[in-house]
Amino acid sequence: MNPEVKTFFDEATFTATHVVWDPKTRRAAIVDSVKDYDPSSGRSSTVSADKVIGFVTDLDLQVDWILETHVHADHLTAAPYLKGKLGGRIGIGARIDVVQGVFKKVFNAEDDFSTDGRQFDHLFEDDETFAIGELEARVLHTPGHTPACVTYVVGDAAFVGDTLFMPDFGTARCDFPGGDARQLFRSIAKILSLPPETRLFLCHDYAPNGRGYEWETTVAAERERNIHVRNGVSEDAFVQMRNARDKQLGMPVLILPSVQVNMRAGELPPAEDNGTHYLKIPVDAL
Ligand SMILES: [Fe+2]
Repeated sequence: MNPEVKTFFDEATFTATHVVWDPKTRRAAIVDSVKDYDPSSGRSSTVSADKVIGFVTDLDLQVDWILETHVHADHLTAAPYLKGKLGGRIGIGARIDVVQGVFKKVFNAEDDFSTDGRQFDHLFEDDETFAIGELEARVLHTPGHTPACVTYVVGDAAFVGDTLFMPDFGTARCDFPGGDARQLFRSIAKILSLPPETRLFLCHDYAPNGRGYEWETTVAAERERNIHVRNGVSEDAFVQMRNARDKQLGMPVLILPSVQVNMRAGELPPAEDNGTHYLKIPVDAL
């Protein structure tokens, strides 16, 4: 039995949110949701998340899991909002403790900000299994883009987060704190050892060369023609290419707000004494 998948694409952040469900029991998971955020005004909204909620409600799906593949640096997660409306438990990879440790320092977060991942409902270990209805889901620890990145394998579908992108765009950057190109290469090898027909669902697409947005590919297609990691590319060649390319990339527009919120499982930092929540900008620190 294989899952059904419906994807919602946010053009503002190039993020794909996937709803994956067991057609028999109608139990579902939501992978990598988006809370809209306008950095110039500091205003957030739930337009994108409400589309997902509308779909889940129309299909009468029961959400058991709200999953993050990692602490995203380019969009805010809507996980707590979705949990409030639809239920479910918020899950992320267990190495979130490493990411929280790094960014607690970068943002000089409050003393009682815990770096043991307790803000999340569940921390997944490598190779852990869990259920979405009668479907078995399995977690692969796939670090490289960040230390805590995971891939969720559900039947013939894998939600790979920021590891691989579409074959014509390549792979995720490895230059954020804790990123490592060599680790990413090995993580991708793990994903590409899944059966060739495995459907891969990506977290982002940037529609290169004028094509439309796409977010689904297969292990076979990536092995054959991914511009960075197709069959025959050596680990050393990949690491050299990836590190050189990362030096040319600017920071994502939403990296500072995203990380501060996402490391808290999508909650804002505590309100100050006037009742307002603030996000910080560390000047000349990153
Ligand atoms: Fe990311």
